[in-house]
Amino acid sequence: MAERAPSIVILTGAGISRESGLATFRDADGIWAKLRIEDVATPEAFARDPVRVHAFYNARRAQLRDAAVQPNAAHRALAELDARWPGELLLVTQNVDDLHDRAGSRRLLHMHGELMKARCLHCGAVRPWAQDLATATPCPACGRAGGMRPHVVWFGEMPLEMERIGEALEGCGLFVAIGTSAQVYPAAGFVAEVAGRARTVELNLEPSAATGHFDEAIHGPATELVPRFVEDLLRRWG
Ligand code: APR
Repeated sequence: MAERAPSIVILTGAGISRESGLATFRDADGIWAKLRIEDVATPEAFARDPVRVHAFYNARRAQLRDAAVQPNAAHRALAELDARWPGELLLVTQNVDDLHDRAGSRRLLHMHGELMKARCLHCGAVRPWAQDLATATPCPACGRAGGMRPHVVWFGEMPLEMERIGEALEGCGLFVAIGTSAQVYPAAGFVAEVAGRARTVELNLEPSAATGHFDEAIHGPATELVPRFVEDLLRRWG
């Protein structure tokens, strides 16, 4: 009897988008090397200076509209895995960019929200949003102004869809972390949650803070490691 294809949970971070031209957060040239989290990525920052927070996300949203920023071979390999994997699969990304979506991943979840969506604080409506946002922007659902914010999870806020993530981790036989420094929880704790009952693999440019928790850690650029890893999986199970 052929062995069943294991259920896979993949966690990605900013490193998978680095070779598409998007900065990571904690590398030497990262976003937090230039800006302070408490100035642009907390509810308190938004309450204190919404213009500055909107400017931060408007600049990152504008970069995503740049034709030079495209999904790379790692995003594309994960989309192919999504399309061809015979077992269960969930791609949990910490990234707010839309590169996994544009590469074609379907079984995908943005636990830190999405840069290309906006949410109204008055009515809660979430809408696709590719342009600039400002405090005066009226909500397309309720018409009121003054309440539109990026649909991203700030520090101090609960990540999205944690129940769905917990269920996927519960049943997975293979957990792969790609391009994340494992410095931010709850995502950084996922590997410890599955250790012992799932095979765990880290694909990262360099050892992360959680490298010691993984059964296997392969280091190098995502555009080299991920296509090879996917090819091996599909050769065995596809
Ligand atoms: N290929 C693979 N990995 C890479 C590459 C690359 N080309 N370039 C960088 N990396 C690795 C770095 O070595 C680092 O370990 O990607 C990781 C990026 O780590 P961070 O910048 O901390 O990004 P991330 O782990 O996604 O941050 C998690 O922190 O600021 C919050 O909400 C933000 O979602 C983000 C969260």
